[in-house]
Amino acid sequence: MTIAFKINGQSTSVDVDPMMPLLWVVRDELKLKGTKYGCGKAACGACSLHVDNNLVRSCSYPVKYAEGKEVTTIEGLSSDENQLHPIHQAWMDENVPQCGYCQTGFMMAGAKLIEEITKPSTDDIKGNISNICRCGTHPRIIKAIKRAASIKQGVQTP
Ligand code: FES
Ligand code: FES
Repeated sequence: MTIAFKINGQSTSVDVDPMMPLLWVVRDELKLKGTKYGCGKAACGACSLHVDNNLVRSCSYPVKYAEGKEVTTIEGLSSDENQLHPIHQAWMDENVPQCGYCQTGFMMAGAKLIEEITKPSTDDIKGNISNICRCGTHPRIIKAIKRAASIKQGVQTP
């Protein structure tokens, strides 16, 4: 079945089983490898991306539901490749990753959160982002999401 949608602002179509998880379409058909496979059960968040500006765990999202929609992955988080998204900048400033495997999922979740909550508290972040990091980078992730929110608001952060 041919399924058409936009990926990072570009129109695309794929001819796949409509029940194929969007994760595998993104990684294997469209060759965008930033989105990761962790659990395959919508539990860890490693596969998080945006569909029509909603946060989606793509391992458990059949591609047929993406028909006609806008999919954004970590590669397309900033529309201008010369301008970092606040979440990219904050992640570098806070030197967040350890092994890195879980990080893009957290970044996509964080990017969504700072759209919804302009100044997220630690409780806001813990309450809204249930992703898993087995390297224990959560304290830096929380700092980075707060920093990204400040950057987004144009507030200088030390
Ligand atoms: S791989 Fe999708 S939530 Fe874990
Ligand atoms: S940085 Fe290794 S799993 Fe999160």
